[in-house]
Amino acid sequence: MTSPDLSTPSGLQARAVAVSLERSRIALPERAPEGFDTWTRRDRLQRSAELASFFARLAVKEHLAPRLHVRPLVAELFLTENCNLRCVSCACWRTTTRDELRTEEWCDVLDQLADAGILKVNFTGGEPLIRRDAIGLMAYATNRGIREVHLNTNAIRLDQPTLERVLAAGVRSFNVSVDGPDAATHDAVRGSEGAFETTMQHLLGVLDQRDRYRLAVRMNFTVMRSNAHLLPEMARLARDLDVRLYLNLASDSTFLFRTSEVTPETAVEAETLRAALAEVQAMARADRRRLPSPADLAYVADHFEDRLQRSVPCAESQLKLMVHSQGQVGGCWGHDPTMSVRAQSIRSIIDSAAYRDEHERFFRKECVGCGSNYSLNLRWRPRSWVRNTGVALADRFRSGRR
Ligand SMILES: C[S@@+](CC[C@H](N)C(=O)[O-])C[C@H]1O[C@@H](n2cnc3c(N)ncnc32)[C@H](O)[C@@H]1O
Ligand code: SF4
Ligand code: SF4
Repeated sequence: MTSPDLSTPSGLQARAVAVSLERSRIALPERAPEGFDTWTRRDRLQRSAELASFFARLAVKEHLAPRLHVRPLVAELFLTENCNLRCVSCACWRTTTRDELRTEEWCDVLDQLADAGILKVNFTGGEPLIRRDAIGLMAYATNRGIREVHLNTNAIRLDQPTLERVLAAGVRSFNVSVDGPDAATHDAVRGSEGAFETTMQHLLGVLDQRDRYRLAVRMNFTVMRSNAHLLPEMARLARDLDVRLYLNLASDSTFLFRTSEVTPETAVEAETLRAALAEVQAMARADRRRLPSPADLAYVADHFEDRLQRSVPCAESQLKLMVHSQGQVGGCWGHDPTMSVRAQSIRSIIDSAAYRDEHERFFRKECVGCGSNYSLNLRWRPRSWVRNTGVALADRFRSGRR
Protein backbone atom coordinates (compact mmCIF):
# COMPACT_ATOMS: atom_id res chain seq x y z
CA MET A 1 0.00 0.00 0.00
CA THR A 2 1.47 3.41 -0.90
CA SER A 3 1.32 5.89 1.97
CA PRO A 4 -1.31 8.60 1.57
CA ASP A 5 -0.56 12.14 2.80
CA LEU A 6 -1.95 12.07 6.36
CA SER A 7 -1.76 15.82 6.81
CA THR A 8 -4.85 16.35 4.62
CA PRO A 9 -8.44 15.18 5.24
CA SER A 10 -8.54 13.45 1.85
CA GLY A 11 -5.25 11.70 2.68
CA LEU A 12 -6.76 10.42 5.90
CA GLN A 13 -9.88 9.25 4.15
CA ALA A 14 -7.80 7.46 1.52
CA ARG A 15 -5.84 5.78 4.26
CA ALA A 16 -9.01 4.67 6.06
CA VAL A 17 -10.38 3.14 2.88
CA ALA A 18 -7.09 1.47 2.01
CA VAL A 19 -6.73 0.10 5.53
CA SER A 20 -10.29 -1.14 5.50
CA LEU A 21 -9.91 -2.91 2.16
CA GLU A 22 -6.56 -4.41 3.00
CA ARG A 23 -7.54 -5.59 6.48
CA SER A 24 -10.80 -7.12 5.36
CA ARG A 25 -8.66 -9.65 3.47
CA ILE A 26 -6.34 -10.35 6.42
CA ALA A 27 -7.22 -13.00 8.97
CA LEU A 28 -6.15 -12.11 12.50
CA PRO A 29 -3.23 -14.13 13.86
CA GLU A 30 -3.84 -16.66 16.63
CA ARG A 31 -0.43 -16.75 18.24
CA ALA A 32 2.17 -14.33 19.49
CA PRO A 33 5.52 -14.57 17.68
CA GLU A 34 8.00 -17.11 19.05
CA GLY A 35 10.17 -15.70 21.85
CA PHE A 36 8.25 -12.42 22.20
CA ASP A 37 8.16 -12.90 25.98
CA THR A 38 11.85 -13.61 26.43
CA TRP A 39 13.28 -10.58 28.13
CA THR A 40 17.04 -10.15 28.04
CA ARG A 41 18.85 -8.13 30.68
CA ARG A 42 19.17 -5.34 28.14
CA ASP A 43 15.41 -5.37 27.48
CA ARG A 44 14.72 -5.08 31.19
CA LEU A 45 17.18 -2.25 31.61
CA GLN A 46 15.65 -0.43 28.66
CA ARG A 47 12.16 -0.79 30.11
CA SER A 48 13.28 0.44 33.53
CA ALA A 49 14.98 3.40 31.84
CA GLU A 50 11.76 4.29 29.98
CA LEU A 51 9.80 4.25 33.23
CA ALA A 52 12.44 6.22 35.11
CA SER A 53 12.47 8.80 32.33
CA PHE A 54 8.65 8.99 32.44
CA PHE A 55 8.64 9.73 36.17
CA ALA A 56 11.58 12.15 35.83
CA ARG A 57 9.63 14.08 33.18
CA LEU A 58 6.64 14.20 35.50
CA ALA A 59 8.83 15.73 38.21
CA VAL A 60 10.09 18.35 35.76
CA LYS A 61 6.51 19.02 34.68
CA GLU A 62 5.39 19.43 38.27
CA HIS A 63 8.14 21.76 39.41
CA LEU A 64 9.76 23.44 36.39
CA ALA A 65 7.93 23.15 33.09
CA PRO A 66 4.14 22.72 33.36
CA ARG A 67 3.77 22.64 29.55
CA LEU A 68 6.19 19.74 29.11
CA HIS A 69 4.63 17.03 26.98
CA VAL A 70 4.98 13.58 28.53
CA ARG A 71 4.66 10.81 25.97
CA PRO A 72 2.14 8.09 26.93
CA LEU A 73 3.63 4.62 27.39
CA VAL A 74 0.49 2.55 27.89
CA ALA A 75 -2.72 2.30 25.85
CA GLU A 76 -6.03 1.38 27.40
CA LEU A 77 -8.29 -0.09 24.72
CA PHE A 78 -12.01 -0.21 25.48
CA LEU A 79 -12.76 -2.93 22.94
CA THR A 80 -16.44 -2.72 23.77
CA GLU A 81 -18.52 -0.83 26.28
CA ASN A 82 -21.09 -3.64 26.40
CA CYS A 83 -21.05 -6.47 28.91
CA ASN A 84 -22.32 -9.89 29.95
CA LEU A 85 -22.78 -8.93 33.63
CA ARG A 86 -24.93 -6.28 35.35
CA CYS A 87 -22.79 -4.76 38.10
CA VAL A 88 -24.54 -2.32 40.44
CA SER A 89 -21.49 -0.04 40.23
CA CYS A 90 -21.29 0.15 36.45
CA ALA A 91 -23.10 1.86 33.58
CA CYS A 92 -21.79 -0.33 30.74
CA TRP A 93 -24.63 -2.85 30.69
CA ARG A 94 -27.44 -0.34 31.17
CA THR A 95 -27.45 0.76 27.53
CA THR A 96 -26.24 -0.91 24.36
CA THR A 97 -23.32 0.87 22.74
CA ARG A 98 -23.46 0.53 18.96
CA ASP A 99 -21.14 1.42 16.10
CA GLU A 100 -18.02 0.34 17.96
CA LEU A 101 -14.70 0.17 16.10
CA ARG A 102 -14.58 -2.73 13.65
CA THR A 103 -11.79 -5.29 13.60
CA GLU A 104 -9.88 -3.52 10.86
CA GLU A 105 -10.18 -0.21 12.71
CA TRP A 106 -8.73 -1.76 15.87
CA CYS A 107 -5.89 -3.22 13.77
CA ASP A 108 -5.18 0.25 12.48
CA VAL A 109 -5.21 1.60 16.05
CA LEU A 110 -2.72 -1.12 17.07
CA ASP A 111 -0.52 -0.31 14.05
CA GLN A 112 -0.43 3.33 15.10
CA LEU A 113 0.29 2.47 18.73
CA ALA A 114 3.13 0.13 17.76
CA ASP A 115 4.61 2.79 15.46
CA ALA A 116 4.35 5.33 18.29
CA GLY A 117 6.42 3.08 20.56
CA ILE A 118 3.66 2.28 23.06
CA LEU A 119 5.10 -0.28 25.49
CA LYS A 120 1.94 -1.94 26.75
CA VAL A 121 -1.69 -2.33 25.74
CA ASN A 122 -4.48 -3.10 28.19
CA PHE A 123 -7.53 -4.77 26.68
CA THR A 124 -10.57 -3.76 28.66
CA GLY A 125 -14.19 -2.72 28.38
CA GLY A 126 -17.05 -3.37 29.08
CA GLU A 127 -16.16 -7.01 28.91
CA PRO A 128 -13.51 -7.41 26.21
CA LEU A 129 -13.97 -11.17 25.87
CA ILE A 130 -17.51 -10.80 24.53
CA ARG A 131 -16.01 -9.58 21.25
CA ARG A 132 -15.30 -12.44 18.88
CA ASP A 133 -12.17 -10.76 17.56
CA ALA A 134 -10.76 -9.92 21.04
CA ILE A 135 -8.15 -12.69 21.18
CA GLY A 136 -7.15 -12.17 17.53
CA LEU A 137 -6.57 -8.48 18.31
CA MET A 138 -4.39 -9.44 21.29
CA ALA A 139 -2.30 -11.63 18.98
CA TYR A 140 -2.24 -8.83 16.42
CA ALA A 141 -0.75 -6.54 19.08
CA THR A 142 2.07 -8.94 19.95
CA ASN A 143 2.74 -9.57 16.26
CA ARG A 144 3.09 -5.81 15.80
CA GLY A 145 5.87 -5.87 18.40
CA ILE A 146 3.92 -4.72 21.46
CA ARG A 147 5.38 -7.11 23.99
CA GLU A 148 3.25 -6.34 27.02
CA VAL A 149 -0.39 -7.23 26.57
CA HIS A 150 -2.76 -7.10 29.53
CA LEU A 151 -6.37 -8.19 29.99
CA ASN A 152 -8.99 -6.77 32.38
CA THR A 153 -11.86 -9.21 32.67
CA ASN A 154 -14.72 -10.48 34.75
CA ALA A 155 -13.40 -13.93 33.71
CA ILE A 156 -16.88 -15.30 32.98
CA ARG A 157 -15.76 -16.36 29.49
CA LEU A 158 -12.22 -17.29 30.52
CA ASP A 159 -12.70 -21.06 30.55
CA GLN A 160 -9.74 -23.37 29.94
CA PRO A 161 -9.84 -23.40 26.10
CA THR A 162 -10.28 -19.61 26.00
CA LEU A 163 -7.47 -19.10 28.50
CA GLU A 164 -5.18 -21.24 26.33
CA ARG A 165 -5.97 -19.05 23.31
CA VAL A 166 -5.46 -15.86 25.33
CA LEU A 167 -2.06 -17.11 26.52
CA ALA A 168 -1.09 -18.20 23.02
CA ALA A 169 -2.00 -14.69 21.80
CA GLY A 170 0.60 -13.33 24.22
CA VAL A 171 -1.31 -11.98 27.22
CA ARG A 172 0.97 -12.13 30.25
CA SER A 173 -0.91 -10.05 32.79
CA PHE A 174 -4.45 -10.21 34.08
CA ASN A 175 -6.77 -8.25 36.33
CA VAL A 176 -9.71 -10.39 37.37
CA SER A 177 -12.55 -8.58 39.13
CA VAL A 178 -13.91 -10.10 42.31
CA ASP A 179 -16.30 -7.84 44.23
CA GLY A 180 -16.92 -9.96 47.29
CA PRO A 181 -15.30 -12.76 49.28
CA ASP A 182 -18.38 -14.97 48.92
CA ALA A 183 -21.00 -15.83 46.32
CA ALA A 184 -23.79 -13.89 48.01
CA THR A 185 -21.90 -10.56 47.94
CA HIS A 186 -20.17 -10.96 44.60
CA ASP A 187 -23.27 -12.17 42.77
CA ALA A 188 -25.40 -9.37 44.23
CA VAL A 189 -22.85 -6.72 43.20
CA ARG A 190 -22.30 -8.29 39.78
CA GLY A 191 -26.02 -8.80 39.14
CA SER A 192 -25.68 -12.43 38.16
CA GLU A 193 -26.28 -15.59 40.14
CA GLY A 194 -23.43 -18.07 39.77
CA ALA A 195 -20.92 -15.39 38.70
CA PHE A 196 -18.72 -15.93 41.77
CA GLU A 197 -18.37 -19.65 41.15
CA THR A 198 -17.49 -19.20 37.48
CA THR A 199 -15.12 -16.28 38.06
CA MET A 200 -13.29 -18.04 40.90
CA GLN A 201 -12.94 -21.24 38.90
CA HIS A 202 -11.50 -19.29 35.97
CA LEU A 203 -9.26 -17.20 38.22
CA LEU A 204 -7.85 -20.45 39.62
CA GLY A 205 -7.25 -21.58 36.04
CA VAL A 206 -5.18 -18.43 35.43
CA LEU A 207 -3.27 -18.93 38.70
CA ASP A 208 -2.47 -22.50 37.65
CA GLN A 209 -0.60 -21.11 34.64
CA ARG A 210 1.13 -18.32 36.57
CA ASP A 211 4.52 -19.95 36.99
CA ARG A 212 4.63 -21.55 33.56
CA TYR A 213 4.06 -18.23 31.75
CA ARG A 214 5.42 -15.89 34.45
CA LEU A 215 2.05 -14.17 34.62
CA ALA A 216 1.26 -11.06 36.64
CA VAL A 217 -2.17 -11.65 38.14
CA ARG A 218 -4.19 -9.23 40.22
CA MET A 219 -7.56 -9.61 41.88
CA ASN A 220 -9.42 -6.31 41.56
CA PHE A 221 -11.95 -5.49 44.23
CA THR A 222 -14.02 -2.35 43.74
CA VAL A 223 -14.67 -0.75 47.11
CA MET A 224 -18.27 0.45 47.28
CA ARG A 225 -21.06 0.86 49.79
CA SER A 226 -22.28 -2.73 49.34
CA ASN A 227 -18.96 -4.41 50.10
CA ALA A 228 -16.61 -2.00 51.94
CA HIS A 229 -17.17 -3.79 55.27
CA LEU A 230 -15.87 -7.02 53.70
CA LEU A 231 -12.40 -5.69 52.93
CA PRO A 232 -10.70 -7.83 55.60
CA GLU A 233 -12.39 -10.94 54.18
CA MET A 234 -11.14 -9.99 50.72
CA ALA A 235 -7.64 -9.62 52.10
CA ARG A 236 -7.90 -13.11 53.60
CA LEU A 237 -9.17 -14.48 50.29
CA ALA A 238 -6.22 -12.89 48.46
CA ARG A 239 -3.86 -14.50 50.97
CA ASP A 240 -5.54 -17.90 50.62
CA LEU A 241 -5.35 -17.73 46.82
CA ASP A 242 -1.87 -16.20 46.94
CA VAL A 243 -2.92 -13.47 44.52
CA ARG A 244 -2.27 -9.73 44.73
CA LEU A 245 -5.24 -7.63 45.86
CA TYR A 246 -5.90 -4.26 44.26
CA LEU A 247 -8.58 -1.90 45.53
CA ASN A 248 -10.53 0.03 42.90
CA LEU A 249 -12.53 2.95 44.25
CA ALA A 250 -16.15 3.23 43.15
CA SER A 251 -16.77 6.39 41.17
CA ASP A 252 -19.78 7.81 39.39
CA SER A 253 -17.80 10.47 37.55
CA THR A 254 -15.80 8.36 35.13
CA PHE A 255 -17.22 7.62 31.71
CA LEU A 256 -18.00 3.91 32.20
CA PHE A 257 -19.77 4.45 35.51
CA ARG A 258 -21.46 7.80 35.05
CA THR A 259 -25.09 7.31 35.99
CA SER A 260 -27.21 8.32 38.96
CA GLU A 261 -27.92 4.62 39.55
CA VAL A 262 -24.26 4.15 40.53
CA THR A 263 -24.17 7.15 42.88
CA PRO A 264 -25.49 5.33 46.00
CA GLU A 265 -22.57 2.88 45.74
CA THR A 266 -20.10 5.77 45.97
CA ALA A 267 -21.56 6.80 49.34
CA VAL A 268 -19.23 4.61 51.34
CA GLU A 269 -19.70 5.06 55.05
CA ALA A 270 -16.52 6.63 56.46
CA GLU A 271 -16.44 4.77 59.77
CA THR A 272 -17.11 1.39 58.18
CA LEU A 273 -14.33 1.96 55.67
CA ARG A 274 -11.81 3.11 58.23
CA ALA A 275 -12.53 0.17 60.53
CA ALA A 276 -12.20 -2.29 57.63
CA LEU A 277 -8.97 -0.66 56.42
CA ALA A 278 -7.51 -0.68 59.92
CA GLU A 279 -7.99 -4.45 60.00
CA VAL A 280 -6.34 -4.86 56.58
CA GLN A 281 -3.52 -2.60 57.72
CA ALA A 282 -2.97 -4.80 60.78
CA MET A 283 -2.89 -7.91 58.57
CA ALA A 284 -0.45 -6.19 56.21
CA ARG A 285 1.81 -5.20 59.09
CA ALA A 286 2.09 -8.83 60.14
CA ASP A 287 2.71 -9.95 56.54
CA ARG A 288 2.70 -7.49 53.64
CA ARG A 289 2.63 -10.04 50.82
CA ARG A 290 -0.23 -9.65 48.32
CA LEU A 291 -1.81 -6.73 50.19
CA PRO A 292 -1.86 -3.00 49.32
CA SER A 293 0.97 -0.81 50.59
CA PRO A 294 0.50 1.54 53.59
CA ALA A 295 0.49 4.56 51.23
CA ASP A 296 -2.23 2.96 49.08
CA LEU A 297 -4.36 2.11 52.12
CA ALA A 298 -4.03 5.66 53.45
CA TYR A 299 -5.17 7.03 50.08
CA VAL A 300 -8.17 4.70 50.01
CA ALA A 301 -9.15 5.79 53.55
CA ASP A 302 -9.42 9.43 52.42
CA HIS A 303 -10.85 8.91 48.93
CA PHE A 304 -14.57 9.02 49.58
CA GLU A 305 -14.22 12.24 51.57
CA ASP A 306 -11.75 13.91 49.20
CA ARG A 307 -12.01 12.53 45.66
CA LEU A 308 -9.34 14.82 44.26
CA GLN A 309 -6.50 14.58 46.81
CA ARG A 310 -4.94 17.33 44.73
CA SER A 311 -1.54 17.17 46.41
CA VAL A 312 -1.03 13.97 44.39
CA PRO A 313 -0.89 14.90 40.68
CA CYS A 314 -2.55 12.61 38.14
CA ALA A 315 0.27 10.56 36.59
CA GLU A 316 -2.35 8.19 35.20
CA SER A 317 -3.58 10.83 32.73
CA GLN A 318 -0.01 11.21 31.42
CA LEU A 319 0.89 7.52 31.28
CA LYS A 320 -2.18 6.38 29.39
CA LEU A 321 -3.66 6.87 26.02
CA MET A 322 -7.23 5.67 26.01
CA VAL A 323 -9.07 4.56 22.90
CA HIS A 324 -12.80 4.30 23.51
CA SER A 325 -14.94 1.69 21.81
CA GLN A 326 -16.24 4.18 19.25
CA GLY A 327 -12.80 5.60 18.55
CA GLN A 328 -12.48 8.69 20.76
CA VAL A 329 -8.98 9.23 22.12
CA GLY A 330 -8.30 10.66 25.57
CA GLY A 331 -6.08 10.26 28.59
CA CYS A 332 -8.47 10.74 31.46
CA TRP A 333 -11.22 8.61 32.93
CA GLY A 334 -13.41 11.52 33.99
CA HIS A 335 -13.57 13.80 30.95
CA ASP A 336 -15.00 12.77 27.61
CA PRO A 337 -12.70 13.12 24.62
CA THR A 338 -14.06 14.38 21.32
CA MET A 339 -11.29 13.65 18.81
CA SER A 340 -11.57 10.25 17.16
CA VAL A 341 -9.39 7.79 15.31
CA ARG A 342 -12.16 7.75 12.74
CA ALA A 343 -11.27 11.29 11.73
CA GLN A 344 -7.61 11.74 12.65
CA SER A 345 -4.43 9.82 13.28
CA ILE A 346 -3.58 9.18 16.94
CA ARG A 347 -0.37 11.15 16.57
CA SER A 348 -2.19 14.22 15.28
CA ILE A 349 -4.63 13.97 18.21
CA ILE A 350 -2.01 13.82 20.92
CA ASP A 351 0.10 16.49 19.24
CA SER A 352 -2.83 18.90 18.98
CA ALA A 353 -2.86 22.04 21.13
CA ALA A 354 -6.29 21.17 22.57
CA TYR A 355 -5.12 17.74 23.73
CA ARG A 356 -1.97 19.16 25.29
CA ASP A 357 -3.83 21.95 27.09
CA GLU A 358 -6.24 19.44 28.53
CA HIS A 359 -3.42 17.17 29.63
CA GLU A 360 -1.68 19.96 31.44
CA ARG A 361 -4.88 20.53 33.45
CA PHE A 362 -5.42 16.83 34.10
CA PHE A 363 -1.95 16.44 35.55
CA ARG A 364 -2.75 19.21 38.04
CA LYS A 365 -6.11 17.55 38.72
CA GLU A 366 -8.20 20.39 37.42
CA CYS A 367 -10.80 17.73 36.84
CA VAL A 368 -13.93 16.07 38.22
CA GLY A 369 -11.73 13.77 40.31
CA CYS A 370 -11.64 10.00 40.43
CA GLY A 371 -9.53 7.39 42.17
CA SER A 372 -8.39 5.65 38.99
CA ASN A 373 -4.93 4.13 39.35
CA TYR A 374 -4.14 6.11 42.51
CA SER A 375 -1.45 3.52 43.15
CA LEU A 376 0.52 4.73 40.11
CA ASN A 377 -0.09 8.34 41.15
CA LEU A 378 1.44 7.58 44.55
CA ARG A 379 4.32 5.43 43.35
CA TRP A 380 6.70 8.28 42.46
CA ARG A 381 5.87 10.53 45.42
CA PRO A 382 8.64 10.77 48.05
CA ARG A 383 5.96 10.81 50.78
CA SER A 384 4.74 7.36 49.73
CA TRP A 385 8.25 6.01 49.85
CA VAL A 386 8.81 7.51 53.31
CA ARG A 387 5.50 6.10 54.57
CA ASN A 388 6.04 2.61 53.14
CA THR A 389 9.66 2.40 54.23
CA GLY A 390 8.89 3.82 57.68
CA VAL A 391 6.16 1.24 58.30
CA ALA A 392 8.35 -1.60 57.00
CA LEU A 393 11.27 -0.58 59.26
CA ALA A 394 9.00 -0.19 62.29
CA ASP A 395 7.50 -3.63 61.70
CA ARG A 396 10.92 -5.21 61.29
CA PHE A 397 12.11 -3.54 64.49
CA ARG A 398 9.04 -4.74 66.40
CA SER A 399 9.33 -8.32 65.15
CA GLY A 400 13.07 -8.28 66.00
CA ARG A 401 12.25 -7.38 69.62
CA ARG A 402 9.73 -10.15 70.02
C1 LIG B 1 -15.22 -1.54 33.85
S1 LIG B 1 -14.45 -3.04 34.29
C2 LIG B 1 -13.93 -3.65 32.72
C3 LIG B 1 -13.33 -5.03 32.74
C4 LIG B 1 -14.27 -6.16 33.17
N1 LIG B 1 -15.57 -6.05 32.66
C5 LIG B 1 -14.27 -6.33 34.67
O1 LIG B 1 -15.30 -6.16 35.31
O2 LIG B 1 -13.18 -6.59 35.18
C6 LIG B 1 -12.88 -2.52 34.98
C7 LIG B 1 -12.88 -2.40 36.47
O3 LIG B 1 -13.75 -1.35 36.86
C8 LIG B 1 -14.29 -1.71 38.11
N2 LIG B 1 -15.46 -0.91 38.43
C9 LIG B 1 -16.77 -1.25 38.31
N3 LIG B 1 -17.55 -0.24 38.72
C10 LIG B 1 -16.73 0.78 39.09
C11 LIG B 1 -16.93 2.09 39.59
N4 LIG B 1 -18.15 2.60 39.74
N5 LIG B 1 -15.86 2.84 39.87
C12 LIG B 1 -14.60 2.36 39.70
N6 LIG B 1 -14.34 1.13 39.23
C13 LIG B 1 -15.39 0.33 38.93
C14 LIG B 1 -14.59 -3.19 37.91
O4 LIG B 1 -14.82 -3.85 39.13
C15 LIG B 1 -13.35 -3.64 37.19
O5 LIG B 1 -12.37 -4.07 38.11
S1 SF4 C 1 -17.72 -3.73 35.90
FE1 SF4 C 1 -17.06 -5.01 34.20
S2 SF4 C 1 -18.30 -6.85 34.45
FE2 SF4 C 1 -19.32 -5.29 35.63
S3 SF4 C 1 -20.87 -4.43 34.25
FE3 SF4 C 1 -19.04 -3.14 34.19
S4 SF4 C 1 -17.92 -3.88 32.47
FE4 SF4 C 1 -19.36 -5.47 33.06
S1 SF4 D 1 -7.92 12.04 38.66
FE1 SF4 D 1 -8.81 13.61 37.32
S2 SF4 D 1 -7.36 13.80 35.62
FE2 SF4 D 1 -6.92 11.87 36.64
S3 SF4 D 1 -8.08 10.35 35.49
FE3 SF4 D 1 -9.37 11.00 37.24
S4 SF4 D 1 -10.66 12.67 36.48
FE4 SF4 D 1 -8.95 12.36 35.01
